[in-house]
Amino acid sequence: VTGLRGAVRAAAERLGAAGVPSPEADAVALAAHLLRVEPAEVRRRMVLGGDEPEGYAALVAERARRVPLQHLTGRAAFRRLVLEVGPGVFVPRPETECVAGWAVEAASLAAGGGRVPVVVDLCAGSGAIALAVKAEVPAARVHAVEVSDLAHAWAVRNRDRLGLDVDVVLGDAGTALPGLEGRVDVVVSNPPYIPVGAVPLDPEVRDHDPEVALYGGSADGLAVPLAVAARAAVLLRPAGRLVMEHADAQGESLPRALRAAGPWTGVEDRTDLTGRPRAVLATRA
Ligand SMILES: C[S@@+](CC[C@H](N)C(=O)[O-])C[C@H]1O[C@@H](n2cnc3c(N)ncnc32)[C@H](O)[C@@H]1O
Repeated sequence: VTGLRGAVRAAAERLGAAGVPSPEADAVALAAHLLRVEPAEVRRRMVLGGDEPEGYAALVAERARRVPLQHLTGRAAFRRLVLEVGPGVFVPRPETECVAGWAVEAASLAAGGGRVPVVVDLCAGSGAIALAVKAEVPAARVHAVEVSDLAHAWAVRNRDRLGLDVDVVLGDAGTALPGLEGRVDVVVSNPPYIPVGAVPLDPEVRDHDPEVALYGGSADGLAVPLAVAARAAVLLRPAGRLVMEHADAQGESLPRALRAAGPWTGVEDRTDLTGRPRAVLATRA
């Protein structure tokens, strides 16, 4: 039998030494995962028994190797949902919760007067944004498009487990959803946008997020986002809304490129909760 409090403290020290950014929270989250309890319960329980000390040590060792916390617990919280994630799919990020929120607002506005708004999530990954929109705007008809078969399988699994009626399509965002041209109210996207050649600093990102989820296809990272925006322009009805996440360094370049490419009006950039430029919003002219 091992004292739980001491084990968590030692784990936090080990994770801190390994460069994990939030070592205490991760040490508690791994114990909660092992014991199948909420994190608050970890602080109340006194001991680890049976094979729990070895199980906890193995999880902490993996995290110290910078395996993402969400791959070890198999879960990622996103707005009101808990999504299942693992190898082969991008782990949804807190900053994308803002982006999903702006899509929820746009979909709610489009739902005014009893209309059924059509919402499309291009580059859907785990399905985080599409599923959050459906959960928060149940009246919406939601389509999610993802090119990687591994990520697509995670999105289908999340959709089915959460019981949310979202159309999850395997395909390229650049040619997605023939038949919906000019009929969509909101296109939301968190596309890959890291400049080609840039190497992410965090090992969790560099070694575990799929490359297809990261790189934007050009030196400025904007080739894929602009191809996605071009398809969004075809899918959206006039006055339909685009919400697209970008890197914090792209808060001027992406809006500028959209204004130049057209057919957009009211192109505006928004910051996330940390004050960093995070997404561009625009209206289909
Ligand atoms: C940054 S991740 C975002 C995933 C999810 N929307 C989220 O916010 O967590 C980008 C996703 O786009 C997918 N992707 C990349 N190129 C694509 C394309 N041409 N068409 C559709 N999906 C694409 C990747 O496989 C990856 O799942």
